[in-house]
Amino acid sequence: MNSTDPFSGVRHQVDAELALALAHSTERDQHASWYREFGSTLEEYTRQHLDSRPGFFVLAGLDHLTEEQARGFTVAVSRLTGDLLPQDGHGALLRDVRDRGVKLGEGATGRYSDSRQGGSLHTDAAHRPGRLPDVFALFCHRQARSGGALVTVHVSDLLELLADHPEELAALRLPVHFDTRDDAPGFPLTVRRPVLEFSGGRERVYYLRDYIEIGHGHPGIPPLSKDQIKALDLLDELLDRRDLQTHARLAPGEMIFIDNRSIVHGRTPFEDDGPAGGGRLLLRTWIGLPQQQPAGTAR
Ligand SMILES: [Fe+2]
Repeated sequence: MNSTDPFSGVRHQVDAELALALAHSTERDQHASWYREFGSTLEEYTRQHLDSRPGFFVLAGLDHLTEEQARGFTVAVSRLTGDLLPQDGHGALLRDVRDRGVKLGEGATGRYSDSRQGGSLHTDAAHRPGRLPDVFALFCHRQARSGGALVTVHVSDLLELLADHPEELAALRLPVHFDTRDDAPGFPLTVRRPVLEFSGGRERVYYLRDYIEIGHGHPGIPPLSKDQIKALDLLDELLDRRDLQTHARLAPGEMIFIDNRSIVHGRTPFEDDGPAGGGRLLLRTWIGLPQQQPAGTAR
């Protein structure tokens, strides 16, 4: 399925001049009408494409931006969408996703975003304590020679199929320990949260199987029960189903916003030409959306 362009209907061209202005925008510009207008446009895209299917949208026409401008643009439009959240203990708001030759789960802190492995569908930041990103954005500055397509599965498709497996569904709604991949002194080893949760008026998913396995391997933390393993195996089986997946490859100068609450994502493995071309480079932000007021609540 999905042999057609998965971005058709959710790909929005950004005016070239506006993109440059955003890339170079400063705090002073935040009151300018052109800046605020683009903020309203992003709010509309978020409501239209993230609060319901497909759970992502793309800004396009940005391939004229240099790497530095791409960084400026990515931070500016992410900030217009919501609160920029730190992605590591040092408060980095923009992270380079590239092949650092690391294997997932390797060493104390090996991360998916530093590798070129595929598979391991996940949500971002499930393993981090504190406020989690509702949305994450990826600006594609350089694409890999081959592979590196984004793979997404929507939680509503998972829930529809899990309805036939009530025991596994119940197990997935119980908390598990995610390894925090952070060995800084005083930092918690694991964080507890369920894989599936109804929260804030919507179904949310938090997942990265390897981090759960590592989390439950620590001394003093109970191992996963047989029922939990069975439920996680079923979830992996569903995530692996090609008919539930959407595959899409970002082109250089495209930036995708993905709903991290309802989309489980990954990528296909990729091959690069080596250091000459610089290799695949995506710029990532984590974004917390403004808290929605429940209906009937005074503002
Ligand atoms: Fe990710």
